[in-house]
Amino acid sequence: MSDTDDIFLKRFSLVIAILVGIAIVCLVIAGRYAVSPDDAVNPSRVTLANDRTLPVGAVRTEITEADLATAAPVAPEPVDPASIDGAAVYTTVCSMCHAAGVAGAPIPGSDLWAERAAKGEEELVHNAINGLNAMPPKGGRLDLSDAEVIAAVEHMLAQ
Ligand code: HEC
Repeated sequence: MSDTDDIFLKRFSLVIAILVGIAIVCLVIAGRYAVSPDDAVNPSRVTLANDRTLPVGAVRTEITEADLATAAPVAPEPVDPASIDGAAVYTTVCSMCHAAGVAGAPIPGSDLWAERAAKGEEELVHNAINGLNAMPPKGGRLDLSDAEVIAAVEHMLAQ
């Protein structure tokens, strides 16, 4: 064996030895953090996993007396029809279409409106509440009470 071969072999063995050393260190570290099969059934881990993967909503199947008591329908406060501001309802909801005649909405006070008004308030109110062609029920605001729609129609008729 020549000298160069000798040096090469020494260095090569040194490199191999270092690599083996690193591998052993890695194995030891990995062993410390590895999840053993026992951990998979560790109750606290399982609950944690279940908590984190809960569905967003669930159906409530148990109804207690207390639930029934709190869920009892609350009678809506009687609304004094006179207290409803038809003009305000018209301005915030109906005028969106009716002020400019969007999609053929009759403009209060116009000839077209007069034709509608001739049908009588009862039918106008019925159509305003239930919708008519491009006119959405309650002008698209289903949260409005019938009384509010009636007040708005009356406001429109008064123009
Ligand atoms: C999205 C637009 C839009 C909104 C908002 C809207 N309307 Fe209309 N409305 C229309 C259109 C379009 C018509 C015409 C429908 C037709 O005859 O084809 C109409 C027609 C009417 C008529 C006449 C119905 C009839 O029998 O001829 C009344 C009354 C009326 N609207 C009341 C209201 C009231 C009250 C509101 C607010 C609560 C309202 N509208 C909000 C579009 C709208």
